[in-house]
Amino acid sequence: MKQIGYADIVLGLQFGDEGKARVVDNLASQYDIIARFNGGSNAGHIIVNKKGPVTIHQIPSGIFHPKTTLYIGSGCVVNIKKLAEEIKVVGDYGIGLEKRLKISSQASIVQPHHILLDDLLGKSIGTLKHGIGPAYADRAMRMYGDRLVNIRLADVIDNPTHMFSIIKTNLKIVQKQYKLPVSVEKEIEAVEKAFAQIRSYIEIDPLYMQRRVEKGSRVLFEGAQSVMLDVVKGSVPYVTASSTIAAAAYTGGDLSPKYHRKTIGVVKAIMSRVGYGPFPSEFGGKQSEDYCMETYNDETRHTKDVEATYKVDELISSPEHFYVGVGLRVLSEEYGATSAPRRIGRLDLVQLHYAAKLNGIDELIITKCDVLNAFSKIRHGGIPLVVGYKLDAKTIDYVPAASDAFYRVKPIISYEKPFIEDISHIRSFDKLPLALRKHIKLIEKASGCKVVGLGVGPKREQYISIP
Ligand code: GDP
Ligand code: IMO
Ligand code: MG
Repeated sequence: MKQIGYADIVLGLQFGDEGKARVVDNLASQYDIIARFNGGSNAGHIIVNKKGPVTIHQIPSGIFHPKTTLYIGSGCVVNIKKLAEEIKVVGDYGIGLEKRLKISSQASIVQPHHILLDDLLGKSIGTLKHGIGPAYADRAMRMYGDRLVNIRLADVIDNPTHMFSIIKTNLKIVQKQYKLPVSVEKEIEAVEKAFAQIRSYIEIDPLYMQRRVEKGSRVLFEGAQSVMLDVVKGSVPYVTASSTIAAAAYTGGDLSPKYHRKTIGVVKAIMSRVGYGPFPSEFGGKQSEDYCMETYNDETRHTKDVEATYKVDELISSPEHFYVGVGLRVLSEEYGATSAPRRIGRLDLVQLHYAAKLNGIDELIITKCDVLNAFSKIRHGGIPLVVGYKLDAKTIDYVPAASDAFYRVKPIISYEKPFIEDISHIRSFDKLPLALRKHIKLIEKASGCKVVGLGVGPKREQYISIP
């Protein structure tokens, strides 16, 4: 009988940075293809290897599993220059990507003018300035009158001279409109040079994934960003520009949904958020949002190096939630790629329930459980959980779709029994402190999903599989 493969999905269920990359690294040996289906270089995925942490942005997180194919689907937007650089960085690690990395020729290109526009217009969202919003907007726009604005890798392969001249025109128009000091010639030259470096990785067969799975390949789709950053289902407008939910894996990952097997959600034990937007469970609320976003506007403020000098124990035992959040950030090293502080929040069960239901999550993996013992030191002496919301003095149990209403939500917090033990060396569920096991059971009940794995540290081996 003909062997048929299948596909599973790994998805972040919160606001990004749940540890999806390390989870993919943990699971990748069970798959033949690791595939991205959305987003682009805005993703920051950290895998801690024997040689230390590696951050990747566009290449799927299976890099340390040499037998896997790494596929970038048509739902992604590709920054050619950054991808060429990333291939080199991964190569310097001794990882060759020839014959392993495949990029759908139907993926759209992030053009230089997209990056300029994002830098100019994305500030009130707090975008990562990688041109993601403008690239997806141009994908939807297709043409501006008779000028092509959505350019895909396939188009460049077919007629490079013509396409690079259009990319140049698109850049010139934006440069002129905003009077930007940009060398158009140099920019285009750099993209052309980078294109030559990535050309051999482009897969021109739109049925590539289909054919592989028909021959028995097992696919792991790796979501970038996360459910609450989905362009429609997330905390609009403070979201990314792509579809981040489970259903998008098949449109953006170039496979028929008939091969779907299961969806695995990744949840961080203490939540984080980057950029502006509602975050009901945030320690310190608006004060924390404003503080963290000061770094967005001035990179010298509140960086990792500055906060590393603070006395963590004093912060965590402070009566002010804002300082508890700062302490937790220092302790759990929640900083972005440019060392900007991430906003920190309690685990939010209302939000988790929404994300789990929306995506039909079959299994949950909870990362950063090792950090939870810090809650033995807070004033309330308990692990906090958001168990409900108050909206304008009414108790609600759902995530409001209106942005202003989501901002007005106040969390209802319950405190669970804490534990003090260091669990980073523990490798079996039964050996975990009772309080933590009870905490996990509570999360299972609230989300309706079975917890199958726990992160107890960033390294591959710091992981507990729960049968
Ligand atoms: P992603 O965007 O979802 O892939 O997540 P990131 O890689 O941006 O951020 C997750 C951070 O948490 C990284 O620095 C990881 O090394 C780290 N991390 C992942 N899992 C764990 C864990 O179980 N414990 C600890 N302490 N750190 C973890
Ligand atoms: P990973 O895959 C966390 C956030 C940005 C901003 C908003 C829009 O590492 O989890 P964009 O540049 O996409 O237009 O920014 O979305 N954002 C992320 N936050 N993790 C990410 O990716 C993110 N990608 C985008 O901070 O608030
Ligand atoms: Mg990340």
